Amino acid sequence: MLSVPQLICPACRRVEEEQFLSFPLALPPSTSEEPADLQAGVLICTGCGHQFPIFDGVPLVVKDVGDYLEKHLPLLSLRSDLPPESMAFLLRGAPPGSPLAQLYTYLNAYLVAHYPEQARVQGISAAPQGEPGWWPIVQKELSSSVADLGGGGRALVVGCAVGRELQILADLGMQVVGLESSFIPARIAQQLCRGQTHHGLVMHRNEQLRAFSVQGFEGTDCNVVVGDVLDPPFPAYSFDLVVLLNLIDAVASPLTMLQQCHALVRKGGQMLLASPFHWSPVCTEPRERFGDSWRAVGGVNAGLDVLLALLEGRLIEGFRTETLGLRKRIPWVLRRHEQSYDIFLSDMVRVRV
Ligand SMILES: C[S@@+](CC[C@H](N)C(=O)[O-])C[C@H]1O[C@@H](n2cnc3c(N)ncnc32)[C@H](O)[C@@H]1O
Repeated sequence: MLSVPQLICPACRRVEEEQFLSFPLALPPSTSEEPADLQAGVLICTGCGHQFPIFDGVPLVVKDVGDYLEKHLPLLSLRSDLPPESMAFLLRGAPPGSPLAQLYTYLNAYLVAHYPEQARVQGISAAPQGEPGWWPIVQKELSSSVADLGGGGRALVVGCAVGRELQILADLGMQVVGLESSFIPARIAQQLCRGQTHHGLVMHRNEQLRAFSVQGFEGTDCNVVVGDVLDPPFPAYSFDLVVLLNLIDAVASPLTMLQQCHALVRKGGQMLLASPFHWSPVCTEPRERFGDSWRAVGGVNAGLDVLLALLEGRLIEGFRTETLGLRKRIPWVLRRHEQSYDIFLSDMVRVRV
């Protein structure tokens, strides 16, 4: 169960007289002897009184809850208990480009990408020529981190999607928190963290849906929060390890994200990052691709060289990490249907803070 004091209020934290002020979230006072139920209800800021709702066991800890609800209401109100057959009816009725159609496209790709072994057993291939080894490499790098850190400790997975990195870290004995901006994948990850099976749908042949189940993982200390990595609801230095896989080119300000994540890692802790640097103006304005810092290393685009230069403190102040591991061009495959795949080549770097 999530220990609530580790969450801080993103609405009122601020710098005052060069001091960083932040306030923890707490459950409302209870008259009951029963342990608090984090399945529903609210968390309240002990500083400003701001309230953050919990839906289906997932706390929504974003700065502007009203704005988030307005933008995500169609998906937030989607029931979690719909069987695949009923979901299939909804999907067939969803106009192309609608929030539900977009969600389905996302889940279709990520459920199979995160759980290729479970897909294979159910007759769904996750990659065109067998599995390309993305997860074994992630597993190896995370195992090395956990060994370097002496085992145990607390990890944050940013942009955890449907949760595979959470499972790997929990199996390695870490206490894990997932931070994800999108509610439905966060809810699936949370469900799996609690050992429950997720019954979903994937595209079989083009236009043909097929049931796909993912088994949860048991006995783990693992929780998921909806929030924004650009304004993360955690105190500084609260993690031994922060994991950011395929996220740098998916946020509005990658530099802010790196600064925020770097601040969350305790001294001597580690970060594992990977990106295919597949920049798109839909996610990141060109001027935001690491700010202007990439120009300093003479690049025409922001890629691995710029990321390493930034992290090692060669471009701007604030970072001074030591590079521990580097792997280039690892295939990361997202499946559309059994005859169509997107293959990205992602560069991975592991650093000590
Ligand atoms: C490209 S996916 C990568 C997912 C997973 N890490 C992987 O490698 O398969 C990026 C994920 O980050 C989430 N995300 C995007 N912007 C975010 C933000 N500002 N804060 C938290 N999560 C974010 C997206 O919803 C999505 O699930």
